[in-house]
Amino acid sequence: MPTAASRSPLAYAFAVGCIAAFLTYYIPRIDLANFGLPSLNELNLDFLQSLTAPAQVTDWANRKEHYPVEECIQIPDPTRKTLPRIQHQFKPQSESEAAVRKQRQKEVRLVIERSWRSYKKHAFPQDELKSISGTAQDIYGNWSMTLIESLDTLWITGLKEEYEEAVELVPGINFNVTSSQEGIGLYDVTSKILGGLISAYELSKDRRLKDKALEFATILYAAFDTRNRMPNLQWDMLATQRGERQRTPSNATIGEIGGLAVAFTRLAIITRDVKWYDAVARIMNGMASQQNSTSYPGLLPSNINLQESSLDGFGDIHVGPQSHAFYDSLPKMYALLRGSDQYKAMTKTAMDSIIQNLIFRPMIPPGYATTNILLPGTLINNTLQPRVHHTACTIAGTLALASRLLRNETYLTTAQSLLNGYLWASQTTALGIMPETFTVAPCPNPSQPCTWNEETYNEHLLTTHNAPSTTDPQILTWKHNLPPGLLSLPSRSYTLHPALISSLLTLYRITGDDTLQDHAWNLWRSVYGRSKTKFAHAVLEDVMQAGAPKGDVMPSAWMGGTLKGFYLMFSEEEVGGFDEWVLGGGGHLMSLNREDLE
Ligand SMILES: *[C@@H]1O[C@H](CO)[C@@H](O)[C@H](O)[C@H]1NC(C)=O
Ligand SMILES: *[C@@H]1O[C@H](CO)[C@@H](O)[C@H](O)[C@H]1NC(C)=O
Ligand SMILES: *[C@@H]1O[C@H](CO)[C@@H](O)[C@H](O)[C@H]1NC(C)=O
Ligand SMILES: *[C@@H]1O[C@H](CO)[C@@H](O)[C@H](O)[C@H]1NC(C)=O
Ligand SMILES: *[C@@H]1O[C@H](CO)[C@@H](O)[C@H](O)[C@H]1NC(C)=O
Ligand SMILES: *[C@@H]1O[C@H](CO)[C@@H](O)[C@H](O)[C@H]1NC(C)=O
Repeated sequence: MPTAASRSPLAYAFAVGCIAAFLTYYIPRIDLANFGLPSLNELNLDFLQSLTAPAQVTDWANRKEHYPVEECIQIPDPTRKTLPRIQHQFKPQSESEAAVRKQRQKEVRLVIERSWRSYKKHAFPQDELKSISGTAQDIYGNWSMTLIESLDTLWITGLKEEYEEAVELVPGINFNVTSSQEGIGLYDVTSKILGGLISAYELSKDRRLKDKALEFATILYAAFDTRNRMPNLQWDMLATQRGERQRTPSNATIGEIGGLAVAFTRLAIITRDVKWYDAVARIMNGMASQQNSTSYPGLLPSNINLQESSLDGFGDIHVGPQSHAFYDSLPKMYALLRGSDQYKAMTKTAMDSIIQNLIFRPMIPPGYATTNILLPGTLINNTLQPRVHHTACTIAGTLALASRLLRNETYLTTAQSLLNGYLWASQTTALGIMPETFTVAPCPNPSQPCTWNEETYNEHLLTTHNAPSTTDPQILTWKHNLPPGLLSLPSRSYTLHPALISSLLTLYRITGDDTLQDHAWNLWRSVYGRSKTKFAHAVLEDVMQAGAPKGDVMPSAWMGGTLKGFYLMFSEEEVGGFDEWVLGGGGHLMSLNREDLE
């Protein structure tokens, strides 16, 4: 995103003046080393350099860095000999239990096969299938995103023929060019494409996949070529190709920036090239140094300015969209590095603060079996609002993983209560699927369950909808088509993402609680039945409409994360075992081996 400052010298001088004023004012309070902000002389030098004609990039592997790294941050040695056991020690199933499980697994496999075939036939080589019209669309780059996201799923499922057919097509994908005129979402392509290639390589050990992952990472590395090496998250690949310099974003979400760590760290380990770790360690070190200094120590606001080392950033504080990937990464990084003091501190600091500051107890209408229910809210302007986003579901899995790695039972009991909350919010809707965003009435005291109080609920309802006190609450629930217990539905859709199934899977594998398999099966019946189209499956526009209106797309995450999550829920526990693998941001498997040390 070129700004005025990159075009006009006058605007540039003004911007430098503003930064200077900002620095002078803030120096006593802020550690400028946090995000490695350069001195003002460097900024001037940079400006002079930008006046010379840029060199076109035709060969990504030999692209010249504008801001080369002088010394790479090394991958730390593990702090532990072995990690604590993560997965439950399952007992052999009875024959009848195994039969039920296998039948369920078979049904999921059929859907995987059908979805893949339909993508292949109607959408490949483009990114995604438009699953109502049977056509195709690109989201970033035109790099066959669904194909890449499908590889590990097809492998795990044992769909050999389909996997072979898919993997043969990988070498032909051309990452060197893009059709995208807009910025490329760096987090999305890292977690889905880089993560998908790494995962498929880890499972199959097919060299072509490792080479392709490396080829892709080499291109993405250009997005990190900024003044302070903080990557451009909406990366303009075409501008880079024209030889233009990349700018550090002034408005980055913590999930997109913090979520890069897992895939790049794993790439560094399997290629034994520390450069990939260095690229993300700079980010995570900056976040670690700020994590305790915000207004809610342990938590970062959803948006931060990577050009400045400002402490508090801006935006709400939550574990929902564009935030959760940061928190989710922390215990995964701890596991990937096989013990790390930095990630132990970051994980503990974050999990404790999430429990203390973000979690609340909702008021649940009578008739629901469990009273032990919690949900994650949103801190808006220093007040915890009972506003929940579907993607925040991942935090239950994250807490459960952290509970095993750091041996803290409170994390696990909290994770179970959160899962109860998500399952309740799913079951209360017409389709049995949790809406994208909803609000509920909180209990007055978060440490105790409260009984349902119609009057309190109605008061909340009137306030939520700014309705005069004379309004009949029934009319509001009818007008907004609200499910029992919810106050509003700011977003009524479900985009087939894996947030809830990934937490169900993690809690199941960690606790061995087999009622979770039944919950997953109920969820599957709803999601499968409601999203099915002539071609495959499509996003749902309103989880409160029995007719289930759909949008014409099958997001690649359906293959990469959602179907894989359901399949693993009903597979043998050795498949994707949690002591051998972590699931990266896109639901792709990263091995916990440290082969770089062997
Ligand atoms: C992309 O460019 C690299 C060199 O940077 C080259 O090795 C590779 O073959 C190119 N890929 C395609 C599909 O053209
Ligand atoms: C994506 O690539 C395919 C084939 O390579 C092409 O048919 C399609 O037009 C491309 N899409 C865009 C948006 O360029
Ligand atoms: C940062 O980006 C978000 C999302 O695009 C936007 O809502 C917000 O207003 C931006 N904040 C600033 C300070 O630019
Ligand atoms: C935050 O501060 C606490 C208390 O001093 C400390 O135990 C923890 O390790 C710190 N966390 C980070 C990420 O530095
Ligand atoms: C376990 O987690 C709870 C809740 O965040 C926290 O209060 C407690 O200090 C943690 N225990 C240990 C040993 O870290
Ligand atoms: C946040 O609180 C301040 C002071 O209480 C108020 O001026 C501001 O309007 C509030 N902002 C929002 C978004 O509610």
